[in-house]
Amino acid sequence: MPHDLHSSEADEGLALLIDKLCRTRSLSLGEYERLIAQRTPGTARELASRADAVRRQVYGTKVFTRGLIEVSSFCKNDCLYCGIRRSNATARRYRLSADEIVKCADTGYDLGFRTFVLQGGEDTFFTDDVLCGIIGRIRAAHPDCAVTLSFGERSRKSYERLHEAGAERYLLRHEAASPALYRRWHPPEMSLENRMRCLSDLREIGYAVGAGFMVGAPFQTAADLACDLRFIERFQPEMCGIGPFIPQKDTPFGDRPAGTAEQTVYLLSLLRLMQPKLLLPATTALGTILPDGRERGLAAGANVVMPNLSPLSVRKKYALYDGKLCTGEEAAQCIGCLSRRVQSVGANIVIDRGDVKS
Ligand code: 5AD
Ligand code: FES
Repeated sequence: MPHDLHSSEADEGLALLIDKLCRTRSLSLGEYERLIAQRTPGTARELASRADAVRRQVYGTKVFTRGLIEVSSFCKNDCLYCGIRRSNATARRYRLSADEIVKCADTGYDLGFRTFVLQGGEDTFFTDDVLCGIIGRIRAAHPDCAVTLSFGERSRKSYERLHEAGAERYLLRHEAASPALYRRWHPPEMSLENRMRCLSDLREIGYAVGAGFMVGAPFQTAADLACDLRFIERFQPEMCGIGPFIPQKDTPFGDRPAGTAEQTVYLLSLLRLMQPKLLLPATTALGTILPDGRERGLAAGANVVMPNLSPLSVRKKYALYDGKLCTGEEAAQCIGCLSRRVQSVGANIVIDRGDVKS
């Protein structure tokens, strides 16, 4: 049938691009855009199996864990997609105490976590002094663990102080590398320029840096996603967190469609082929949009999972999007559930800091 003929010709064109990506680890913007815009189930399968092979060559069957501690749902920012934005009067706000945070890390340690990610909205309560105190306590109690921070945009001086206090890694998704798209997702007081300034400061200070972006969010095109891939190719972060956009009903994007697991998994595979050593989480958002989304991500190039260690009492309040997974499970239950999921794709969770392969 002519239709099949056309689609197999298109698949062949994409197969050539995939070959080129595997050889050179780099494509032009237009080539990335074609790979994204012309995705078919066939090319997705091909890409996933190549990405899976590359992940196995670099990391074997190991999957790294990060224990996520969501320390505050207060945020001074107003990103249009995010459920904890300051204008969301219905958001339930909480802030963990230093003792509570340290206790989460202690529990996590006993469960086998060797990396703790402290994440929160941009909450002015968490000054450098407050954060340095908490980082110091966790590092002293668990010197064999890494502390990762995710508190958004701060000054260079602040990033320096937190690094000196013992934080070695920082997650700051760039969100959208396309300036026009970044502007549509954020209020005028936020800028892509400052985001990029933060990312380069973090890199220069010596952090292992995690960038990342949302997939399938409002107004996003294949050309925008191509910009994201090119940014990752150039910046070479240690980690890249990507997940589907999921609407949160009390935000301006609350009635927009969610991104898809298929497109997210496809992008995970592309990222693995671009940067074989990259740390790539199979995110909670991916598991939220599709019940076996994280397994699909792990089978297509991802090598990190980030279970939640926050106290059960606050889990539902850290609601960046609706329907978030694992808000009713104890950390121990989550790790049991995830171990089984990871094993179902022939991999194993390991007790390890999970540094990027040098
Ligand atoms: N859907 C999916 N991901 C979201 N994030 C924020 N809001 C949403 C949403 N509605 C992501 C952002 C942020 C990370 C912590 O969560 O990319 O950087
Ligand atoms: Fe908090 Fe975007 S709403 S950083």
